[in-house]
Amino acid sequence: METRLLPTDPASAMRSSLAEAVATLERGDVVVLPTETVYGLAGDITSPKAIARIFEAKERPSVDPLIVHIPRKEALYDVAVVDDAMDKLLRKLMETFWPGPLTFILPKHPSVSDAITAGLPTVAVRMTSDPIFKRVLHDLGRPLAAPSANRFGRISPTSASAALEELNGRIPLVIDGGACATGLESSILKIELTEGKPLFHILRHGPVTAEDLKPFGKIAKKRKPSPHTKEKEDAAPAWEAPGQTDSHYAPITPLRLLSDPSEFQPEEGKRYALLSYRGLEDDGYMELTEFVETFVLSPGSGKVPEAAVRLFFLMRQADQLGVDEIIAEPVPEHSIGSAIMDRLRRASIPATDQ
Ligand code: TXA
Ligand code: MG
Repeated sequence: METRLLPTDPASAMRSSLAEAVATLERGDVVVLPTETVYGLAGDITSPKAIARIFEAKERPSVDPLIVHIPRKEALYDVAVVDDAMDKLLRKLMETFWPGPLTFILPKHPSVSDAITAGLPTVAVRMTSDPIFKRVLHDLGRPLAAPSANRFGRISPTSASAALEELNGRIPLVIDGGACATGLESSILKIELTEGKPLFHILRHGPVTAEDLKPFGKIAKKRKPSPHTKEKEDAAPAWEAPGQTDSHYAPITPLRLLSDPSEFQPEEGKRYALLSYRGLEDDGYMELTEFVETFVLSPGSGKVPEAAVRLFFLMRQADQLGVDEIIAEPVPEHSIGSAIMDRLRRASIPATDQ
């Protein structure tokens, strides 16, 4: 299958590209669309054919559920069942964070197919702020299921060319909306209503941080796997996001995350690339060996939001260099830095450990 890449600039191109995207979705086919976080592979939630195509193109296991993207806040009630107590809190959260990179896990509406939720009684819902995605949702008039537009377990694409690299030949259409503004996948939140403050389980760290959510509820501590359990799965919280396997977002080249420069001893004859936070020699990583290339997340200044935008883009470049190992510096674990470190930790776990 030929995969076409359609522009959204100038405005006349935008009109015809979006019309084509909507027509493709109406036929029950799939389209790659930009969001503010990462590019998504979208399909009409009412089309079983489209949902099957999403799983097929991504080689995604059918046990890993999809996020449903809605065109406006009120559409939440078409895909999720929300009782009064939850509604009061949700309205405050939607007011503050939507449209934006926050996904809610809620009891699913009976009309949402089990294929989308992988048989779970819950559905993941979000409302993106991306103007192109929003226009497609509006013109189609139905919600879209859209996971990140990468093959399963690979790095999420933050540009149309990266999405094409992942899915070329497997899907009909990619809409080019430029670079993603945030660069990391949405935060995933499961809410537990209790006698006191609502308890927030952050199933995936992302652009909406624990600090951002704190004014609205209590952040649940993540249960650590007990050293006494043999199998990691035994200790995983029952409602961990099912797609959040330990190894995820991984380049093909092995990646090692350091916490201190002293942890690294280069091996004779091995070629390394460095994923540096600020690219400053004072940080002690740049001169550990003769790196084939150093990729800098936030040159000079060290701004975590900038590092987030560039992370997947640079990981992809480092992966294409053909080195033996990518060495990654840590970034400060505040605000979106926690989500960056989460992705780096997952990327540094070899796939065989999954
Ligand atoms: O920013 C994003 O969220 C992007 C853009 C395209 O919207 N989408 C995205 O989708 O990252 P995906 O499928 O790559 O990641 C969604 C995660 C998966 O780990 C999945 O297991 C989890 O959400 N998930 C979906 N439905 C769930 C549910 N009912 N309960 C728990 N986790 C769920
Ligand atoms: Mg993904």
